Amino acid sequence: MTMMSRQPTTCRAKRWRAEVAADVGKAAQALKSGKIVAFPTETVYGLGANATCASAVAEVFKAKGRPADNPLIVHVAEKASLERLKLTSLPLGRVADAVTTAFWPGPLTVVLPLRRDAALSELVTAGLCTVGIRVPSHPVACSLLKAAGIAVAAPSANRSGRPSPTTEAHVAEDLDDRIYGILSDLPRPSDARDEDATAQFGIESTVVDCTIDESPVILRPGAISREDLERVSGASFAVHDAFTNRHACASENKAGSGNARANAEDAVPKAPGMKYRHYAPRAPVLLRQADALYDEIKAQLEILEPPNIVGVLADEETCADLRQVYDGRVRCVPCGRRGDSLSVAQELYAGLRAFDGEGPLAIPRPGAAVIVALALADSGDGIAAAVMNRLRKAASAPSGGSLC
Ligand code: TXA
Ligand code: MG
Repeated sequence: MTMMSRQPTTCRAKRWRAEVAADVGKAAQALKSGKIVAFPTETVYGLGANATCASAVAEVFKAKGRPADNPLIVHVAEKASLERLKLTSLPLGRVADAVTTAFWPGPLTVVLPLRRDAALSELVTAGLCTVGIRVPSHPVACSLLKAAGIAVAAPSANRSGRPSPTTEAHVAEDLDDRIYGILSDLPRPSDARDEDATAQFGIESTVVDCTIDESPVILRPGAISREDLERVSGASFAVHDAFTNRHACASENKAGSGNARANAEDAVPKAPGMKYRHYAPRAPVLLRQADALYDEIKAQLEILEPPNIVGVLADEETCADLRQVYDGRVRCVPCGRRGDSLSVAQELYAGLRAFDGEGPLAIPRPGAAVIVALALADSGDGIAAAVMNRLRKAASAPSGGSLC
């Protein structure tokens, strides 16, 4: 008698197609009923849960392996939803009103005082007295939020510590057997290149703390720059230092009244997510300026014994130049075009994932022993600075190096 070996059954997430109206309706219904659903936004894919439903929000933390003290951003369909959903006190302060009027819908998250009577699961805000709110501009995210009519708590749809997902394949790679469903992006034009990320910006939203309206703080840089924010609001924005983690506020100020931040300095980290390891591929990342790139590659080739290879993450033009010089021991992953920081942002996370053996540009295992990444020159548009912020985090992971 032959023994039948039983294959393990993996449970895959449902797939819904954004161009099918009924599918968007099904995804919205699933969200409303407490299921967790990934969906595209103009930054990165989010993993959504009904923000009033504690069990759904708990599922998000579990699926991602996310520490419970790292709060989630609440996504709503439009600014006008703030009144109905009662997340924060209205009217907004002058600065919060100016930046949200200018940049919503779009890649901006604003942290505001949480209303004492907000109907949000406490897990969403990790017990903080504040709530991060975003109105995305992506047509699929907009349709989903409108159809659901609820506040949707959504972190990026990746496992904690992995690069954020900019394609449906990235979401599936990290979470297929851990979530209820994935709503696809809209079909892409036939001339789009395979390795192009589908997200418009490719990096996460700018996060701004407006809990004290006239002293706003940028907690996470993104496509909307400090200059953009200052221009539309007339206020000056501080930039949060992730390492000192100042500007804390305490949960006893839940109503958001008074000088919460000043009263409770150091009580609770203001930007809890900043302390965790982020965006790191398995191999250590060394971030180098253009004039130090070749020397670093050469030095690494001397240090590493064959068959170890050196990975390089750089713009297409630099990769083409490197291929003329180096043999098979240097493997380049092209990431955007030289001088075009938006294209670098769009391809950044797919590029980092390629070093872990994922996607059309995958470097086969065992992969690169070290990754030398090209630093971006500051183009002054906010996106280059935001890309550098992500690259620095990838490079400062435990096994990583420093910028020189
Ligand atoms: O573009 C984005 O923002 C994407 C898409 C899906 O919307 N979302 C995203 O979420 O990047 P996540 O969870 O990966 O990052 C949210 C960041 C974390 O660093 C978190 O600590 C911070 O925002 N955050 C959320 N609520 C906060 C709050 N009340 N106070 C301070 N920081 C907060
Ligand atoms: Mg994230």
